[in-house]
Amino acid sequence: MTLLKTDGLVKKFGGLVATDDVNLSVEENERVSIIGPNGAGKSTLVNLITRRLDPTEGDIQFKGESIVGRDPHEVVQMGISKSFQTASIFSELTVRENAEIAALAAENGSFGFKFLQHRESLTGVHDRATDTLDAVGLLGQADRTAADLPYGDKRRLEIGIALAAEPDLLLMDEPTAGMSPEETESTVDLIEEVKRELGLTFVLIEHDMEIVFRISDRIVVLNRGQIIAEGTPDEIRGDDEVQEAYLGGVDL
Ligand SMILES: Nc1ncnc2c1ncn2[C@@H]1O[C@H](COP(=O)(O)OP(=O)(O)OP(=O)(O)O)[C@@H](O)[C@H]1O
Ligand SMILES: [Mg+2]
Repeated sequence: MTLLKTDGLVKKFGGLVATDDVNLSVEENERVSIIGPNGAGKSTLVNLITRRLDPTEGDIQFKGESIVGRDPHEVVQMGISKSFQTASIFSELTVRENAEIAALAAENGSFGFKFLQHRESLTGVHDRATDTLDAVGLLGQADRTAADLPYGDKRRLEIGIALAAEPDLLLMDEPTAGMSPEETESTVDLIEEVKRELGLTFVLIEHDMEIVFRISDRIVVLNRGQIIAEGTPDEIRGDDEVQEAYLGGVDL
């Protein structure tokens, strides 16, 4: 089944065409990486999908339904979640509270705090938060204040927050940016674990080609807002144009 499909998607910022007639499909259970030089339009594409930005032209369908015009929280409820929004962590709360809020938001669609009147559903939220923290290896740190976590663990908590919403599609924009080599390694291991154990569909934006080749089923190459190539890691490795433009001189 096609989970996500963009149709002639265009985003202009004034005279700049950041997304230029993009037709992207993501199948259920597929892991797609988007690569391309700085300013290619990778983040813009993701922000269009999460409804942080309105397209200038074109359509975005999720599970066969157009999501253009919907609110960002509606899209989350439909099953699209984005990790690595630094704003997604409440630093003054504990790790567990962060996971619980994410689980609640997935149920209620917003932080309505209605849950205080619905105690029976709290058990579900507690269990879901426990499972999530276990999945990202943070159960042992559940009672720590989020602000006190080392950087790499904060990023793992962000993945946890995205996963607690039980998304059908997880979007990740440069998850390893700013991480030490050790933190990068453990985050990539975590993404592989999520891929293996949860069978989750994801779209990853990543500059590190080693990670991209290791994690993706399919790679989409963006340049100046356009898709200039797509294929399996082997196809992209063997694509002369991509090689020349990106994998040769430019450090992706
Ligand atoms: N809100 C905005 N207003 C105006 N121009 C923008 C805005 N967001 C992005 N752009 C421009 O759109 C183009 C694409 O930017 P985008 O952030 O999508 O690129 P990217 O591929 O994610 O780059 P990077 O690898 O550096 O993260 C760039 O030229 C950028 O300057
Ligand atoms: Mg970007």
